[in-house]
Amino acid sequence: MSTILITGGAGNIGSFIADQCIDLGHKVVVADNFYNGKFRNIEHHINSGNLELETIDIGSIEMVRYAFEKHRPEYVSHQASLMIMDSNKFPHKSLETNIQGTFNIIQACYELGVKKLTYGSSASVYGDPRVIPVTEDHPFDNRTLYGATKIAKEALMQSWAYSHNVPYVGFRYFNIYSERQGLGAFYTQVFQKWIHAIYKDEEITMYGDGEQTLDLVHSSDAARANVLAMFNDNVKNEHFNVGTGKETSLKEVLSIIEKNLGKKARVKHVESDPHLVKRRCASISKIRTMLGFEPSVTVEEGTKKYVDHLLEGKI
Ligand SMILES: NC(=O)c1ccc[n+]([C@@H]2O[C@H](COP(=O)([O-])OP(=O)(O)OC[C@H]3O[C@@H](n4cnc5c(N)ncnc54)[C@H](O)[C@@H]3O)[C@@H](O)[C@H]2O)c1
Repeated sequence: MSTILITGGAGNIGSFIADQCIDLGHKVVVADNFYNGKFRNIEHHINSGNLELETIDIGSIEMVRYAFEKHRPEYVSHQASLMIMDSNKFPHKSLETNIQGTFNIIQACYELGVKKLTYGSSASVYGDPRVIPVTEDHPFDNRTLYGATKIAKEALMQSWAYSHNVPYVGFRYFNIYSERQGLGAFYTQVFQKWIHAIYKDEEITMYGDGEQTLDLVHSSDAARANVLAMFNDNVKNEHFNVGTGKETSLKEVLSIIEKNLGKKARVKHVESDPHLVKRRCASISKIRTMLGFEPSVTVEEGTKKYVDHLLEGKI
């Protein structure tokens, strides 16, 4: 049994990593400031003795060192981040959390001799793709502050891996969604906003013609990529795409939601947002080959899970 510290462990992806690590018999420490995380995502473990909660801000090295020294984790999964919209709204906080915070985590991993650090980068680093599907060697063409912080994170990881021997595995997540997410994400919030609005018979907004595509991955699958990497001694200091290799257009997302809710949406069409990339589609050959990763939840299944949670009053 190992101790695994998960930053952002009360969030969308981190809470599924917590579930999966606990299922494997490990002890989990969730380190989260609840900026976007939710207590209900981890509540089911609170009295189990398998999960401890540290309400800390990773931008503070004192708080990070406190949590690391108290729990002495063997493995760390770093998911805490300010997302795209909040990075635009609060740029200095974004740099503090995403860059300084990431460096604090890497440094604490070094000080404690952590065996493996997995973390969340983003498909944002690629910008609007030049070639589909996007492989890991696609050039970076980021257009957002958030994406810039992800590129900085990747560079920080690489530098301390080589100079200080901190082994990492990073994931360029494509569009990760689940019934546990908050409204911080940019692309997948469409999913969430639409489900809630259609349920309440409110009008929804469709940007552009609805032909833009997402590569939608359920958060439980993204979490599994982290768990596979954490305990694989043969894989370190690599970045992997986490996607499905399948594109789903916004129009298709809408019709899957309508089918699950048994309701038709009232749609207001507005001009496309220039920040939106037109297509997302990952090549997942690398992660398949090196980590044996296979996405398991289809968009239809993931949407049904979301809608069931909503109808059961869990969201
Ligand atoms: N969801 C996606 O589509 C997507 C896509 C690409 C990359 N990512 C990346 O995946 C990771 C996890 O994303 P998510 O979807 O679970 O988002 P999320 O917002 O649900 O989870 C992030 C968690 O970090 C916590 N947090 C934020 N600032 C913090 C701070 N300063 N100190 C401590 N905790 C803090 C939040 O409270 C939240 O629980 C992030 O690094 C994100 O950038 C997500």
